[in-house]
Amino acid sequence: MARTIVVSGGGTGIGRAVAARFAAGGDRVAVVGRRAGVLEKAAGEIGGTALPADLADPAEVERVRAGLAERFGGIDVLVNAAGGNAEYHGGPGGVLEQWTSNFRTNVLTSVLPTEALRDLLNPSGRVVFISSVAALRGSRGTSYGPMKAALHPYAFDLAAALGPRGITVNVVAPGYIEDTEFFGGSMSDERRAALVAQTHTGRAGTPGDVAETVHWLASPGAGHVTAQIVQVNGGAERGR
Ligand SMILES: NC(=O)c1ccc[n+]([C@@H]2O[C@H](COP(=O)([O-])OP(=O)(O)OC[C@H]3O[C@@H](n4cnc5c(N)ncnc54)[C@H](OP(=O)(O)O)[C@@H]3O)[C@@H](O)[C@H]2O)c1
Repeated sequence: MARTIVVSGGGTGIGRAVAARFAAGGDRVAVVGRRAGVLEKAAGEIGGTALPADLADPAEVERVRAGLAERFGGIDVLVNAAGGNAEYHGGPGGVLEQWTSNFRTNVLTSVLPTEALRDLLNPSGRVVFISSVAALRGSRGTSYGPMKAALHPYAFDLAAALGPRGITVNVVAPGYIEDTEFFGGSMSDERRAALVAQTHTGRAGTPGDVAETVHWLASPGAGHVTAQIVQVNGGAERGR
């Protein structure tokens, strides 16, 4: 039976691949992001629904909740993929601004929709957060890793709260994933080679690598996997 899937950040990169993977499996998919044009293009390509919104804004999150409730009623899978390192995207330079910006981009965009939508989750539902290897080993002095790390205990507590409803909550922590907008054009050949060299697999990750892992976590076979951090980074977190 077709499930209802909500993917934040579903217009580009990892979120887009996740949305496409569920749509290919016959599920109904709604994608959320700020840029309406980007989102509508992605939704059109997979036969999904575009819900443009800034997920760091409670009023916009409430509008998304109302739209989802009206259109679908319940939700089976919520994938929180919206995020990114705001310090890569020309944000303001002070410490307060940098940390606040990454808090909004990575914590609020996951926590606000999750809190707004948790009561809409159907029994046996799934919540997946896209974190990062940076939450486990740092992010070269930026506030990105610490903000992703904040999602981990939040996910553990949520797993405890939703477990009695048969809902699992997990975190996926990718390493370097290419073919996304994450680095905003700042990736050099040298940096890419260094990131690939950290892996045991000898390659960059792809959005499809993450999408397949999320799809598995949302499958009935993963029903006893909850409150976990699943790393998709070719072993890079262990170092070389
Ligand atoms: N690429 C990597 O190497 C890598 C590694 C580890 C973890 N990650 C994580 O993977 C997730 C997906 O990133 P990506 O690599 O696929 O990069 P991406 O292509 O830049 O995707 C990020 C998405 O988040 C959306 N977004 C950002 N802020 C938002 C907001 N306030 N409200 C709604 N949507 C928002 C963006 O859409 P709009 O700009 O249109 O809002 C965009 O579609 C992120 O959480 C990122 O931190 C990426």
